[in-house]
Amino acid sequence: MDAITLLRNDHKTVERLFKRFEKAGDRALVEKREIVDRIVEELSIHATIEEQYFYPVARATVPGTEDIALESLEEHHIVKWVLSELDGMDPAEERFDAKMTVLIENVRHHVEEEEQEFFPKVRAELDRSALAELGEAMATAKEMAPSHPHPRSPDTPPGNLAAAAGAGMVDRIGDTVSGVAQGSVSAVQDLIALILGRRKRSASPTGSKVARSTAHDVRGGASKITDDAVAAAVRAKRTAATAAAGAKKTASAAVDGTKDTARTASKGAKRTATTAKRSAKRTATTAKRSSAKRSTTTAKRSSATRTARSGAAKKASSATRSTAKKAAAAAS
Ligand SMILES: [Fe+2]
Ligand SMILES: [Fe+2]
Repeated sequence: MDAITLLRNDHKTVERLFKRFEKAGDRALVEKREIVDRIVEELSIHATIEEQYFYPVARATVPGTEDIALESLEEHHIVKWVLSELDGMDPAEERFDAKMTVLIENVRHHVEEEEQEFFPKVRAELDRSALAELGEAMATAKEMAPSHPHPRSPDTPPGNLAAAAGAGMVDRIGDTVSGVAQGSVSAVQDLIALILGRRKRSASPTGSKVARSTAHDVRGGASKITDDAVAAAVRAKRTAATAAAGAKKTASAAVDGTKDTARTASKGAKRTATTAKRSAKRTATTAKRSSAKRSTTTAKRSSATRTARSGAAKKASSATRSTAKKAAAAAS
């Protein structure tokens, strides 16, 4: 799809959402929030790809687009601030609808200028294959563009290419830093070079001084930002690898520590069990011996007592019998 058709399609999508919002009733708060969420996403992505590709490529290759591109950037800037306020705002707040009304007016005005003035200049200047390649680059960029507005971020190359790669990753949770940065930066760089190399001969073959200077700045800046982004990606990968290795080491140390503790505990338990067994055995032996001794002594004592008692009784009985005999003799 060529670049202008892609951008026009985005404009139509947003216009349909605007109409849905305007038709939603005052009490349709949930529906309004859902529509505004979609508008925030669509416009954030659309503004990003225009700022990353369409505007810089136009400025570098299409004479007479410098002023309109700069004005467009300022209009985007205002729209992004309003979007950032609407992003997450409660639709029940009294200024929600008013903010949406101002946003819609601004975007409609901006879209009209792009479609009536900007796009025709670009279409007149760039050939079909240049527009197709520009469209393809923007379609790819849409996949990773930030889905929320970032009004404080840079909006011109090369700053916006790096900022959008970072913000896009945060907004969408991606992990292809080098891919995003390299892809977008190389693409815009190559596009400008390609378009400048085969632009229509009817127009100024080398572009205005401003266009040439912009193209040079974009190419130079883009190269540097590519290097920076790749270096950042390599650093990030290295940090991740170091962190992973550290975590592995800690886990391994923890496992070793646990093993040692278990080993020590096991040895301790064995020792305690052995000591307890020995102690129990000793106690049992002592108890046996002591009990046997006591039993023997008691038995001996008891037997002696019984013997003594029996002797005394015999003696007493004999004495009694002798006394009785004596008494009987005396009586007779
Ligand atoms: Fe725009
Ligand atoms: Fe646009």
